Amino acid sequence: MSEQTQTASSFRAVPQLDLAAQYAAIGEEIRAAIEHVMASQQFILGHQGAALETEIAGLSGAAYGIGVASGTDALILALRACGVSAGDEVIIPPFTFVATASAVNAIGAKPVFADIRPDTYNIDPSDLPRRVTRKTKAIIAVHLYGLSADMDPILGFARANSLRVVEDNAQSLGATYKGRRTGSMGDAGCISFYPTKNLGAYGDAGMIVTNSSEHAARLRTLRNHGQSAKYVSSEAGWNSRLDEIQAAILRVKLRYLPEWQRARQAHAAAYSKLLLGVPGIAPPLVPENFGHAFHQYTIRVEQRDALQRLLKERNISSSVYYPVPLHLQPLYSSLGHHAGDFPHAEHAAKEVISLPMYPELRSDQITRVAEAVIEFVTK
Ligand SMILES: Cc1ncc(COP(=O)(O)O)c(C=O)c1O
Repeated sequence: MSEQTQTASSFRAVPQLDLAAQYAAIGEEIRAAIEHVMASQQFILGHQGAALETEIAGLSGAAYGIGVASGTDALILALRACGVSAGDEVIIPPFTFVATASAVNAIGAKPVFADIRPDTYNIDPSDLPRRVTRKTKAIIAVHLYGLSADMDPILGFARANSLRVVEDNAQSLGATYKGRRTGSMGDAGCISFYPTKNLGAYGDAGMIVTNSSEHAARLRTLRNHGQSAKYVSSEAGWNSRLDEIQAAILRVKLRYLPEWQRARQAHAAAYSKLLLGVPGIAPPLVPENFGHAFHQYTIRVEQRDALQRLLKERNISSSVYYPVPLHLQPLYSSLGHHAGDFPHAEHAAKEVISLPMYPELRSDQITRVAEAVIEFVTK
C-alpha cells in the first residue's frame, strides 16, 4: 500500500470509540487538575474524592455517594451492605458483562439468571417470579447500553418478596426512568468509571450511590478495611478507595458530561433516522418516559458476524456486547444450564452489534456507517 493510500484509508477510519479526540479537547484542564493533586500531596480520601461523591450523588438523584476502586467493587460492597452473604441467591440477567455475576460470586452467593426482554435487552420483570427461592436475597437490575431497566415492576416485585434491589448502573449514568435517575431507585446504585464509560477515569474507579444513610455509613467502613474509626475495625472490609487523581480527573470530565450526553443523543437520533424502518435492522428502542444515555448505539441484525466483517473491510470499527450469555460461560458450567434456557439472551448475543458512538463522532461518519449497514441488509 502506498503511503498516500495508507493516509487516505486511515483518515476514513471510523473507530468505535475515540478517547484521544476527547483528550485533545480537555487535556490541558486534566493536566492542571492532576498537577493540583500533586501539589496538595493528598492522594487518598481527600477533598477531590469527597467533592466527586457529592457531585455524582447529585447527578444520580441520590443522597449519598461512596467512591470505590471500581464498578465491580461497587457491586460487591453494595451487595454486602444490603445484607447479601454466602449461600444467598441473587437474581441477575444473563445478558450483561461478567462483572455483574462475578460480584455475586465474590461474596459466596449464587447468581440466578432471569431472561431479558428482546426489545430492551434488560431483565424481564415477568420472568422474576419463577426464579425466586427461599434463598433469594436480592435482584441486580442492570441498565444495559445506557437504557434503564423497567424498574417499577422490579421494585414492586422486590417489595412484595422482601428482596433488596441493587442497580448495576455501570453503563447508564445520567439515564432516566419516568423522571427518576438510574442508580437512585433501588437500595444502591453502582457506577463504573472504567475509561470507556460515558464518564471515564484514566484508570479504574467506581462509586455507589444510595438514599440510605445506614448503607452509606456501612459502605464507607467496608471500603476502608471495616474501620469505623481510625485503627478500629468493626468488620472485615478491604481497601477499595477511589484515589484523588482519578477523582480530580473525573471532576473535570463531569463538567462536560451534559454536553457529551447531548451529543450522544443527537448521534443516536441521526443513526435512527437513517436506520428506522429499514427491513432487517432493529435500532435501539427508547420506551416512552425513558431517557437513554446511549453508552452504546446497539442494533440487531441477522448475520451479525458477516455485517461486522463488512464494516471492518470499510474501515469501520464495531463491537459485540456480549457474544456469550453468562449462563453459557465456562465459568458457570457448574450451574448446569443449557442452550435454550434463556432464549432471549441467547438470541440477542447472536444478533447485537454496537456501532461507533462517542461525542466527537461526526455526522458524515454516522452517514457512512449507516449506509454500510443498509447496504449489507439490502444486498
Ligand atoms: C454492566 C457492567 N457491570 C459491571 C462492570 C464493572 O465495572 P468495572 O470495570 O469498573 O469494575 C461493567 C464495566 O466494566 C459493566 O459494563
